[in-house]
Amino acid sequence: MSTATARRLDRRVYLRSHPVLFALLCATRRRPVLRLGRTVLVHDPEVYREVLTRVPLDRTAEGTTGGAAAGLTDGGLLFDQDGEAHRAARRALAERLGSHGVQRLRPVWQQVLEHRLADLTGPLDLVPVVRELAGATAAALTGSTAAPTVLARAASEAASAAAGDHLPSLFPRRRAGADAAASLTALLPDPLDAMVAVAAVNTTVAALPRAAAWCARAGLWPQVSPELAAELLRLTAPSPILPRVAAADAEVAGCPLRRGDRLVLVARHAAEAHRAVPGQPAAAAQAVFGAGPHACPGARLARVQLTDFLTALAPYRPAVLRARVDRHSALPGYAALLVGTVPRG
Ligand code: HEM
Repeated sequence: MSTATARRLDRRVYLRSHPVLFALLCATRRRPVLRLGRTVLVHDPEVYREVLTRVPLDRTAEGTTGGAAAGLTDGGLLFDQDGEAHRAARRALAERLGSHGVQRLRPVWQQVLEHRLADLTGPLDLVPVVRELAGATAAALTGSTAAPTVLARAASEAASAAAGDHLPSLFPRRRAGADAAASLTALLPDPLDAMVAVAAVNTTVAALPRAAAWCARAGLWPQVSPELAAELLRLTAPSPILPRVAAADAEVAGCPLRRGDRLVLVARHAAEAHRAVPGQPAAAAQAVFGAGPHACPGARLARVQLTDFLTALAPYRPAVLRARVDRHSALPGYAALLVGTVPRG
């Protein structure tokens, strides 16, 4: 196996999850910015950053991540906030997700890894392992007493129910499921943590198995390190598009934006995920976590968690035995990823 094979098979996960939208994004990748009616596709890394840092965005518009967040409860869930309320909510979360917060949470996922990867001689599906790890982490982060797998399932269902809202309107819309949102908030001491749980669980369940599959297929087990984990996040771009809406007229890269335009910000292309060679600028690795005041507050946790996950797998040097793409999840990922050790000859 090789980097080219790892990239081809990972690209398949991305393309199969939302075939029409992602095929369109691939076909238009070379255009820095492209207007299609009232929808503007943003591929260029600089323009992507400029939109996220400089263009006023409508945080509660339908069809955006903020709109989906607002649909989960009555709003106030970071993605949908602006100004001082947003800054205050971020300060509160920074405490929990800063370096001390991550060190406090780390034993939670390390315990899951120790328990579930204690003996990887037989085949093992990594998706349920990651689901448990993500659920346990989200429970510790939010103070939920729910069983990790129950919390993870509720967070995935809330995200899938909102996915029709979250993705651009090239798709038939599904209303954010009120039932799914209610089931999730019932598990949390503070309903305002609903979007934190959704963001933490769904990105983790999408990202970790894809990174492990890439590592196995490209023969990278001997090179596992924090730098490799960051690079795999860049290459796989687990949250590949950020759907947003312009809140005011603006101009980016010579392209006028009008208030109300739908913006499809392609994080995957801003991260230069198609360039599978090391040495990309640091900004490319950061692009998968967004930019500006709403940039992902969980980036540090995500990087440490992925490093720990790959480190726990590395001694076994597992190979991918079977993989099935999840066509129902909000983010491109696997429904099953069976790995196991193969005798070395
Ligand atoms: C591989 C893992 C992850 C990726 C790729 C990712 C990606 C992103 C992206 C692209 C955004 C939007 C940024 C923007 O609008 O500029 C975001 C926001 C957010 N992420 Fe993450 N994320 C990951 C993991 C996590 C984790 C583990 C947590 C929590 C523990 C988390 C919590 C959040 C929250 C709360 C926001 C909303 C921030 C705001 O609007 O102020 N994320 N993430």
